[in-house]
Amino acid sequence: MKTLIKNGKIVTEEKSFLADLLIEDGKISQIGSDLHEREAAEEIDAMGLFVLPGGVDVHVHLDLPMAGTISSDDHFTGTRAAAFGGTTTVIDFVSQDSDNLLECVENLRAKADKKVSVDYGLHMNITHLTQETEKQIPLLVDMGVTSIKVFTAYNNRLRLQDGEIFKVLRIAREAGLLTMLHAENGDLIDLLIQEALAARHTTPIWHARTRPAWGAAEALLRGAALAVIADAPLYVVHMNTRGEVDLLQYALQNHFPVYGETCPQYLLFTQDELERSDGAKWICSPPLRTKDDQTRLWEGLKTGLIKTIATDHCPFFYNGKQPIKYDGVDIAIAGKELGKDDFTKIPNGLPGVGDRLPVLWTEMVTSKRFTENEFVALTSANPAKLFGLYPRKGTLKPGSDADIVLWDPCKEIYYGIAYAQHRTDYNLYEGWRLKGYPVQVFSNGKLIVKDGEWYGRPGGGRFIQRKVFDRSLK
Ligand code: URP
Ligand code: ZN
Ligand code: ZN
Repeated sequence: MKTLIKNGKIVTEEKSFLADLLIEDGKISQIGSDLHEREAAEEIDAMGLFVLPGGVDVHVHLDLPMAGTISSDDHFTGTRAAAFGGTTTVIDFVSQDSDNLLECVENLRAKADKKVSVDYGLHMNITHLTQETEKQIPLLVDMGVTSIKVFTAYNNRLRLQDGEIFKVLRIAREAGLLTMLHAENGDLIDLLIQEALAARHTTPIWHARTRPAWGAAEALLRGAALAVIADAPLYVVHMNTRGEVDLLQYALQNHFPVYGETCPQYLLFTQDELERSDGAKWICSPPLRTKDDQTRLWEGLKTGLIKTIATDHCPFFYNGKQPIKYDGVDIAIAGKELGKDDFTKIPNGLPGVGDRLPVLWTEMVTSKRFTENEFVALTSANPAKLFGLYPRKGTLKPGSDADIVLWDPCKEIYYGIAYAQHRTDYNLYEGWRLKGYPVQVFSNGKLIVKDGEWYGRPGGGRFIQRKVFDRSLK
């Protein structure tokens, strides 16, 4: 099966140019001017449209149990929502439910492989270090799981001690794995939460007040120091504060291999949202910060300090007692209402996997603050490079998977729940005016979204065995 996309503007992380693109057997086979295909090929006229590589979102949580409930997108609904927003590869996290890491990966794949509608990969959370897990970490590589996440917060649950993080970093370096860091100060958070609750401070804003920005900066520096001593690369997830960017700059000026990720919520909202009557909708960890932090994060992106924008997609219903119609059936999943009298019981996380590209395009490219090539670098190419997917994903080259988005730079809409396909009852960008929107999405050469209609299927995506971390790809 061949598809010829004609007259589009090809956009990669490096350049933009007018050309035709031929898809053959799920891969890009040719890019060139005036391509003609003698054999029967479906032809699409992309005049006036941009042809982008599908988005790569390396930070999503699908079907994740949390705070007595579960994140409300599963591996089908979450990957479908991703596709509607132009994202064709996601990387989810495996929880360490036992010391048998390989079995944890197999268990997740057993439920996800048959549901995903775009390609996906997995990171492994390391939240309990034993001799057995130490032995198993290198074996993850053979399963195509080439990155692991560690936490300096969530005491007695997910957190590792500094010595353990150091050990993990050393093992990871030897095996070629990239270590990801959740940087917050767990001890400080626990103490501040205790004090806040004792003083009957129970509203959402206290979520931010008990997770201070300096704790995030301090934890990033600590993680970076451990990584430098272990001579291991480090990827800092969901960066959210000015101090983190300053310390990332310090690390990079010293040529330490520390890579930064931020998320749209930290770029586009502040903790003021938590003071609203529906502030629980914006509860995530780390929390939203200030305008000043936002400014520095944008600067970090523009100057190349921060390499990727992922979503940390982890949706919950705002009111999980009130069913919504989703795929024609009533559905309600317990959500943010669990913490209506106590901010510590609000499940942490936000919807976003489908919002990321449309919202950022308007904020970055339509606004002319970034070029379309910088946009592709931050949302597709760089994440693909860092996580062993490039050039199969994240770019448009002969031989790359035909994960392609036809993007209409002129399409204007009022965005919100009517467009986003997340399985939840709210959207953070409700009513935002967007200019530039994906109109057709291909996954491995197959059309899965066209003009807001769905043509994909559960199990249409595949698990991607990722390559080990390659320092030369930056
Ligand atoms: O609030 C969030 N981000 N939940 C997901 C867990 C994490 O630490 O990324
Ligand atoms: Zn995290
Ligand atoms: Zn996360």
